[in-house]
Amino acid sequence: MAAPLLSVDKLSVRFRLKTGQALQALTDVSFTLQAGETLGIVGESGCGKSTLARAILQLVTPTQGEIYWQGKPLNPHDKAGMKVFRRAVQCIFQDPLDALNPRMTVGGILQEPMLALRPDLSKAAIRQRADELLQAVGLESGMQNRYPHEFSGGQCQRIGIARALSVEPQLILCDEPVSALDVSIQGQIVKLLADLQRDHKLTLLFISHDLGVVRELSDRVLVLYLGRIMEIAPAESLYQNPLHPYTRMLLDAIPLPDPQQERARLAKITQGIGDLPSPLNPPPGCVFHTRCPQTQPVCREQLPELREISGRQVACHFA
Ligand SMILES: Nc1ncnc2c1ncn2[C@@H]1O[C@H](COP(=O)(O)OP(=O)(O)OP(=O)(O)O)[C@@H](O)[C@H]1O
Ligand code: SF4
Ligand SMILES: [Mg+2]
Repeated sequence: MAAPLLSVDKLSVRFRLKTGQALQALTDVSFTLQAGETLGIVGESGCGKSTLARAILQLVTPTQGEIYWQGKPLNPHDKAGMKVFRRAVQCIFQDPLDALNPRMTVGGILQEPMLALRPDLSKAAIRQRADELLQAVGLESGMQNRYPHEFSGGQCQRIGIARALSVEPQLILCDEPVSALDVSIQGQIVKLLADLQRDHKLTLLFISHDLGVVRELSDRVLVLYLGRIMEIAPAESLYQNPLHPYTRMLLDAIPLPDPQQERARLAKITQGIGDLPSPLNPPPGCVFHTRCPQTQPVCREQLPELREISGRQVACHFA
């Protein structure tokens, strides 16, 4: 079997704060991503999702661990190798307007990466391709002469997606790409990504704090809590039968369309579950034990290893 497109091996990231304190943002995170696969990454705010994306992009230096691209370790000192990697991996971020240069036209934004990275294409071919990309994301080709501020949030995110696609990336890293959008627009953008994923066989790393949003796109889902993996499982089985109590808590947080079920859900989630502990002072033993409804004495002392349970990985003594 071919090497995975991306492998992350025992990755840890620790930040040194101005106060001198150490903040452990990620601990021992390992996973693989095969070409054509979509891995959803979920967890509450502050659990390390963006840090993981930034570490993959070599924007933060890991304190430990290795990142492999097509089986070879990424080396930030290898300039040629990093250039290939940066072209192969494109990103879509939370705030679409923020990610687009306000002084450039949409055409300029879409053409810029191709002008830099596709010397084989003529200017006319690049302009034509920018038109095709706009159509692929549900916009009109005539929009190339307009500026980002003339568009809505959802349209800007479509432009961001078109720009990411412009250099035919092998991996697209999406960090909360729909969180800043209205719920109805969120659905449209997720559907667009699902269509593009199918038509272009995209490989996606899709980060969200919302398990509901991740569901439609992901083949597998990785659940992070306080910088550690709680569970990795095929999406289907994770949603139908979550094995980790934290995954269950996140699933309970998804709003339900039926008003009666929704009232019962709200009553359940407002019962008891406390706040996220500070990552500066994570609980000993199982990091989830201060909020877990199934905590036992052993949970306060012993860190549960991530273990294989029928095709998935779970870090819980009692899964
Ligand atoms: N550059 C940094 N310096 C210090 N601490 C940082 C830095 N970047 C992130 N952190 C801390 O690391 C932890 C993980 O942050 P991260 O941004 O990865 O979380 P996240 O899961 O993406 O959250 P959100 O859902 O809010 O985007 C947080 O406690 C955050 O405060
Ligand atoms: S190890 Fe214990 S505290 Fe942690 S998730 Fe499992 S039951 Fe809950
Ligand atoms: Mg984030």
